[in-house]
Amino acid sequence: MMKKLTKIKAAMLCGAMAMGGTAAKAEMEYQQVSDLLHLVMSSDRTVYTRMIVNRLAVKEGVIKASEHFEDDKALVLPAQMFRFGAEMVAEETDAFSYSLLSLWPINKQNAPSTDLEKEGLEYIADNPGENFYGEEELGGVTYFTAFYPDVAVAEACTQCHNEHKDSPKTDFEGGDVMGGVVIRIPMDG
Ligand code: HEC
Repeated sequence: MMKKLTKIKAAMLCGAMAMGGTAAKAEMEYQQVSDLLHLVMSSDRTVYTRMIVNRLAVKEGVIKASEHFEDDKALVLPAQMFRFGAEMVAEETDAFSYSLLSLWPINKQNAPSTDLEKEGLEYIADNPGENFYGEEELGGVTYFTAFYPDVAVAEACTQCHNEHKDSPKTDFEGGDVMGGVVIRIPMDG
């Protein structure tokens, strides 16, 4: 039901593969496009958390990560890092958008706001390791919307959320699904 695939003609500019200045074109499916976008997002997110935040704030204790990073002269939180990137993308294109949501949000703005968001977040929380794909109509536009589990990949994740005063859940453990990355692509036609 949710794994409905729809074709998209995505002109992929494969710079490295472009021969003689001709851009290679490939027909990809929404799901594939979304999966590849997510791979970049989640890899960057994991690298930032493990190699910057967890190493310097949790293991070495030389600097902390804080929501008020400017006042505190601290590291930007992983979720803020993610949102700042999403905001820059939104300034550049309407071709896709993304966000980080959760059923147990510290920031209430990160709670699900559409029926599909609720369904998708519940599905990925109940089925660890699986993604969820669906379609939804918002403001007259039909979107392909994908949900990917956001997993506690470092001690910093669980420690900070469990101890945060606004966290509705205080017993996250390593490897738990803490929320989800949501990617939305408007479908044409
Ligand atoms: C130092 C504290 C800290 C660390 C480390 C941290 N988070 Fe968060 N996280 C927060 C705060 C605070 C927010 C809310 C930020 C906002 O949107 O204002 C948040 C937001 C989130 C959200 C969106 C839902 C919500 O709670 O608002 C998810 C999902 C999430 N974090 C998962 C993770 C995962 C997974 C990791 C590790 C990869 C992680 N966090 C690391 C503090 C932290």
